[in-house]
This record gives sequence, structure tokens and C-alpha cells, in this order.
Amino acid sequence: MATTTSGLDGYVFADTAISHVDGDQGRLVIAGLDVEQLATTESFEAAVARVLAAGAATDREPLALGPARQAAWTMLPRLGDALTAPDAMDALRAALAHLCSTGDDHADAVAAIGAAPVFVAAWSRLRAGAEPIAPDPSLGHAADYLRMTTGAAPAAAARALEAYLVTVIDHGMNASTFTARVITSTGSDLISAVVGGVGALKGPLHGGAPGPVLDMLDAIGEPARAEAWLLGELAAGRRIMGMGHRIYRVRDPRAAVLETAVKPLASPRLELARAVETAAAKILRERKPDRPLAANVEFFTAVLLDAVGLPREQFAATFAVGRVGGWSAHVLEQRRTGRLVRPASRYVGPMPA
Ligand SMILES: CC(C)(COP(=O)(O)OP(=O)(O)OC[C@H]1O[C@@H](n2cnc3c(N)ncnc32)[C@H](O)[C@@H]1OP(=O)(O)O)[C@@H](O)C(=O)NCCC(=O)NCCS
Repeated sequence: MATTTSGLDGYVFADTAISHVDGDQGRLVIAGLDVEQLATTESFEAAVARVLAAGAATDREPLALGPARQAAWTMLPRLGDALTAPDAMDALRAALAHLCSTGDDHADAVAAIGAAPVFVAAWSRLRAGAEPIAPDPSLGHAADYLRMTTGAAPAAAARALEAYLVTVIDHGMNASTFTARVITSTGSDLISAVVGGVGALKGPLHGGAPGPVLDMLDAIGEPARAEAWLLGELAAGRRIMGMGHRIYRVRDPRAAVLETAVKPLASPRLELARAVETAAAKILRERKPDRPLAANVEFFTAVLLDAVGLPREQFAATFAVGRVGGWSAHVLEQRRTGRLVRPASRYVGPMPA
């Protein structure tokens, strides 16, 4: 009988033109560009157009995300309790589920990518007791997301947020992308796949870590306290948030991209974060010499999203605002190249007497 592989480590599930993760070299290529180049030269709209074209195996088409944001805004009165959920990811999942599939993947992708920041920003405003702010289709996607949340979009902060959204747009066959592709493989629609992706991304082992990273930095407070605090966490049986990765055996390349992107914002937390990362890497190296555990994307995500002015409760949902581009691209690719996903299980229960 076949052995059970619960984490599917090392299994290649699909051929993809969307992104490539080299865990040993610490390299991430997205639709033909290194993530460092993509994040510093491309707008979010351009990056989305790239991944969608890679997924569909077509030429790049310009994307009208402004009208899609406006369309989502007109839905707000019909979203019922969705946007008052205590958790931003629950709100985003529930709100996206209100989108009706048109049956056309490209149109559904534009609708979902456009809607995500509108729903998250509205959730954030309502939670703070403020009125949601309508989208401005003349702005870039990242700048408008920031403005809809905070009321303003200073150029440096908008640029840093855009670099973040581009950086997280896609990342190989991660759990939420796999989820989206499994849903697509049944012949279901793109909106359902994206809603499933949000559900998978919510978990702290995947996208839910940046809020806790900021909590950790707050709890540590100053570099001199880092080592003792981290040792206390490990002694209590807890993991260090923002450290370790299933694929990377070196520092996640996205950590460096985000660390660079946050520099112009002069975040008071950046120096502390660097000190905590150094201390955590040293401690984990001593504890697990055979299992390299370095900073992952969430580590500097926390510093960056905090520096641009987003509340930490919105961090995981902001990851989704970027990743919905990648999920959509994978839906297009799965539809073209995939087949029904239907693995086996090994029955370990009793047999009838
Ligand atoms: C990302 C993560 C889930 C990858 O996990 P994984 O590939 O399944 O790795 P494993 O769970 O097999 O961990 C291997 C060993 O390293 C340890 N380890 C992994 N990440 C650790 C961390 N952040 N802090 C402390 N120990 C860690 C595990 O406890 C395990 O030790 P054990 O063999 O003694 O039980 C894991 O590193 C983690 O939980 N990190 C913290 C959460 C986080 O930052 N998530 C965002 C991911 S982008």
C-alpha cells in the first residue's frame, strides 16, 4: 500500500509559467522576472497583467481595475453583515462570496482583484467607527487601497505598499494557490476558487503571521530584550512568527525586497526588526542546526504594512489583496492545463466484521 504524505512536500502538482521558487538559492521568479526587479519596476496593475497573461498563455492585456473597484463599491449596501465580521479575513471571504460569477474567468478575475481592496478598506473603516471611502478610479490600485483605508495616500507610502502587493502576488504551489486550483479543477468558477484561497490564506501557518510578528516586536520593545524574549517563547513551546519556511532553506528573497521597500518610510520598528531577526536566526540555528530557519516574507511585511499606516488586523487581508492576482492567474492556467484533482487516502478505520 502507498505511504501517506500528509504535507505533500516535494510533490510536483502542476507545470506553471506563473512563478518559480528556488528554496535553496533563495530566488523567486514571477512571470519571467526576479521578484526584486518586478517589485521595483512594475505597478501592481502591470504585475497582475503579467501573471494573468502567464496563466492564460496569451499576450498581456491592460486591466481596468478602477472600474472594478467602483463596481465593488456599489455592492457595499448589499453585503449585509459581511463587513462587520470581527476578523478581516472572514469579512473579505464573506464579501467576495457576494460576487456572482459571469462564467468568464478573465472578467471574474478583474472583478475579484478590483473588489478585494474595496471590501477590506470598508471593513477597516467600519471597524474604526468611520464611514467607508469611495474608490478613486484615477488612482493606482495600491494608492487607492491606502486612501480608502486611511483617507490619504502619500506617495512614498503608496509606493511601498505597491511594492508589497507586487511582491506577494504569487509564490509557487503554496496552500492557498493549491486550494484555488483544486476548486478550479472541479469545473467550478473563479470566484469560488478565490473565496477558497482566502480561507486557506487565513491560517497563521500561511498568511496570518504578520500581525503576530508586529505583536512580537511590540512585546520585545528594544533590541537588548530580544534574545531573552525569544528563548521564553521557545521554552513555552511556541514558534517564532515570521521565521521558517516550507521551501526556503535560506532567507526568503521577499524579506529583502520588503526591507528595502520600507527604508524610505523611516519606520521606527525597522532597526528593532533587524535586531530581532538576527537574534532569532542565531537561536534557531543553535537549536536546529540541521533545519535552516530564516526570516520569511511575513517578517518585514509586518514592518512595512505598519509603516504605511495600515492597522495590524488588516495585514492578512492585505496579503490577500495582492495574492488574488496570483490565484486568478492559477485559475486560468489550471483551466487550460489541469484535470480533476482527486488524490487517494489510506483507510485506517475498522472494517465491518
Ligand atoms: C512556515 C512554517 C509553517 C513551515 O513549517 P514546516 O515546513 O512545516 O516546518 P516544520 O513544521 O516541519 O518544522 C521543522 C522544525 O522546525 C521547527 N520550526 C519551524 N519553524 C519554526 C519557528 N518559526 N520557530 C521555531 N521553530 C520552528 C519546528 O518546530 C520543527 O521542529 P521539530 O522537528 O523539533 O518538531 C513554520 O516555519 C512556521 O510555523 N513558522 C512560523 C509561522 C510563519 O511565520 N508563517 C508564515 C509563513 S510564510
